[in-house]
Amino acid sequence: MIDRRIFGLGLGVSLAGGLAACGGSKNAARWRLGFSQVTTTEPWRVLFSREMREAAAKHPEIALTIADGQDRTEKQVSDVEAFIRQRVDLILISPKESAGLTGAVEAATAAGIPVIVLDRGVNTEAYRQFIGSDNLKIGRMAGDYAVGLLGGKGKAKGRMVEIWGGMASTPAQERHKGFAEAADAEPGIVRLVDRQDADWKQDRAYNIMASALKAHPAIDLVYAHNDPMAYGAYLAAKDVGRQGEMRFIGIDGIPTEGAKWVKDGALTATFVYEPPGAEAIEQAMRILHGEQVPKRIELGTQVIDVGDVDAFLATHA
Ligand code: FRU
Repeated sequence: MIDRRIFGLGLGVSLAGGLAACGGSKNAARWRLGFSQVTTTEPWRVLFSREMREAAAKHPEIALTIADGQDRTEKQVSDVEAFIRQRVDLILISPKESAGLTGAVEAATAAGIPVIVLDRGVNTEAYRQFIGSDNLKIGRMAGDYAVGLLGGKGKAKGRMVEIWGGMASTPAQERHKGFAEAADAEPGIVRLVDRQDADWKQDRAYNIMASALKAHPAIDLVYAHNDPMAYGAYLAAKDVGRQGEMRFIGIDGIPTEGAKWVKDGALTATFVYEPPGAEAIEQAMRILHGEQVPKRIELGTQVIDVGDVDAFLATHA
């Protein structure tokens, strides 16, 4: 799955604050699709939206509108409500958080509009399909990797910091849970900092890490729920000359961020979190053509570390 994707942000287009339509022209198109994207500022999100726009552009019979939720639940709720009022033919949503967007998804479904939920989950089954990578599995892979770094199963020893993505979102909860299954089974792994929510942001992770560095004279491992936060933690350690003392693990693995930071030696490993934009359009077309689709589509993942970063970048840049 991963290999057929074109990573890279060279053509990234920002949608600051607005709506943008693509695909068929609005009047000519047979179907109108509305995508409520949580935010368009982070590179992983930009790539996700871009791949969706590129896939939509191949279908003149659809017109895709992307609404930028500006990283705010209320804005995203009103974006979905607007799509419902406009009676679009299909709604796609990648929600900021699960509880806050559950009602909007239920309302769209109740209005008879098929909904595809992308990447982050909601607390209802009232949608047609979910598409995303398995975050529990990614968390487990990261946990096993961390145990390996710290000495191996049954022998691992080390002091660690975990930096959370948005705690109200399913990827953060699952990335924590999967990791904890491996790491917390090791009596030698000590958690110094836990349950610190940096909401996926590099600058917030920097601040959490700066405090952790002041409080703890020795740290062996930092696990952050995405690459921007892992890199923020790395920068905080670097600024006090302590980056060599510990390893940093992140998640996302896009060529312009995580994979590059592995290549540069800032991160020890990252795990690919495949953006679901292109797959979402493929599935939307099936739904619009009246086909039955599976309730859940799982996208792939893979670890990227020093052993394979060159090969990864060669095929994905
Ligand atoms: C981008 C992001 C990614 C992360 C995903 C989780 O907004 O924070 O870095 O993997 O969302 O939903």
